[in-house]
Amino acid sequence: MIHPIIIFASGKGSNAAAIIEYFKNKSIAKVALIVSNKENAGVVDLAKAERIPYTIIDRASFQEEGFVAALKSYRPSIIVLAGFLWKIPDNVIAAFSNRIINIHPALLPEFGGKGMYGGKVHNAVLEAGKKETGITIHYVDEVYDNGAIIMQARCKIDKGDVGEILAARIHRLEHFYFPRTIEFLLMNVSENRI
Ligand code: GRF
Repeated sequence: MIHPIIIFASGKGSNAAAIIEYFKNKSIAKVALIVSNKENAGVVDLAKAERIPYTIIDRASFQEEGFVAALKSYRPSIIVLAGFLWKIPDNVIAAFSNRIINIHPALLPEFGGKGMYGGKVHNAVLEAGKKETGITIHYVDEVYDNGAIIMQARCKIDKGDVGEILAARIHRLEHFYFPRTIEFLLMNVSENRI
């Protein structure tokens, strides 16, 4: 079967692009829908360019049961948060229990939680004087950056590294591991948990 993937993203969408590209010539999965909270986000341009259905949500419709029904109509095997900044409502989490995953640009449980995203994460890692950082892919539950960890990958921090350098290094890790982790999970789909 071809597993439908739904991607939620608020920003540039470089992870979404890596996922779309990775599954383009594979029969295991395809990106069926992109959900964004920003009309002018790079990820929306990407959806248009790739001719992938997309939807822009606002705060109110995000909370409604109609949104869950709309997501369900795509029969997603997995929902992937790729730089999505809003907290996922509890009814969405309940409807797709253990099927929503997120990527975080640091080694959780450190440097996570509300407000910890993008450059803020890398700056906090640098300020803490860490010698390494990395990425965490984890299940999404009702608390920010809290769900069970699926995988982590690490990279070194060199003397003199600044936030932008770290961000680029982290993105390289993300673009490699995120699509492959999704593929691994989809290969193991069981009734409830992927
Ligand atoms: C990534 O670094 C991801 O870890 C974080 O948000 C960023 C999204 O980047 N959650 P992009 O929009 O995929 O380029």
